[in-house]
Amino acid sequence: MTHFLDIHKTDKAALRQIIDSACGMKQARNGLPKGAPDEDQPLAGHMVALIFEKPSTRTRVSFDVGVRQMGGQTMVLSGTDMQLGHGETIADTARVLSRYVDLIMMRTFEEDTLLEMAEYADVPVINGLTNRSHPCQIMADVMTFEEHRGPIAGKKVVWSGDGNNVFASFAHAAQQFGFDLTFTGPETLDPEPALRDAITIERDPQKAVEGADLVVTDTWVSMHDPQSARERRHNQLRGYQVNAQLMSHASDDALFMHCLPAHRDDEATSEVMDGPHSVIFDEAENRLHAQKAIMRWCLGK
Ligand code: CP
Ligand code: NVA
Repeated sequence: MTHFLDIHKTDKAALRQIIDSACGMKQARNGLPKGAPDEDQPLAGHMVALIFEKPSTRTRVSFDVGVRQMGGQTMVLSGTDMQLGHGETIADTARVLSRYVDLIMMRTFEEDTLLEMAEYADVPVINGLTNRSHPCQIMADVMTFEEHRGPIAGKKVVWSGDGNNVFASFAHAAQQFGFDLTFTGPETLDPEPALRDAITIERDPQKAVEGADLVVTDTWVSMHDPQSARERRHNQLRGYQVNAQLMSHASDDALFMHCLPAHRDDEATSEVMDGPHSVIFDEAENRLHAQKAIMRWCLGK
């Protein structure tokens, strides 16, 4: 079974093939209305379940639109409306869904939930974000970087903020795509220990972004973080805000990314988000193209 669970669990050649295929499909649709079908219909006759145990705008809409453009059908399921949220096991849910659908995309809390779904499903499972990682996002981000600046291999990427799930997928991608990744943030919000060998840690944000080709940040409080931690996190992270002053230490042609949703003027200022370095809406668009390529790869299409 070809699941897409994480970037470090996916073969390098497959990752490159997915990026190339995403770029090709994007070009092939140039100028078409969003609802128009692709010329190629690899998902014709296929049913895709999109399961959300957390809120989503981009993941929900981009997967749904992507499946339809490729000729397939979707059903969007909320975890709380399913028996999954009322005690049915993940293993049973996986086996049942596999009798109805050809592909499952899941956004959930614990990584183990996703892994159990993948273990028991007879159809491919795609990670649409867990507390630990967000691989579809970073595939779109790599695609976006390369569209603007060419190969990401050997480039300097700097993450400023919380060492969270989105950061973890960047760390996985750094190894697979061969770029340098620096984390700058408070020690209390460091990435998990297993990721630290693959990255550089620099506590001083200005030193960290020196010569950066890409500066990235994300929300200071993720969906799985308790709201009670909000004030403490804001106090810890304020010095790591991405603003024009911080960007001035990066390369002149550095890009700025944020997976969105953003809390404007917390983790990044509107000046940066709407400024000349920012490619945040290209990232959002490329979720669509990257995920279409991921689905094709999972289904061998
Ligand atoms: N970036 C991202 O995954 O956005 P959503 O939470 O809106 O899906
Ligand atoms: N780190 C964020 C990403 C949202 C797309 C979260 O998990 O809430």
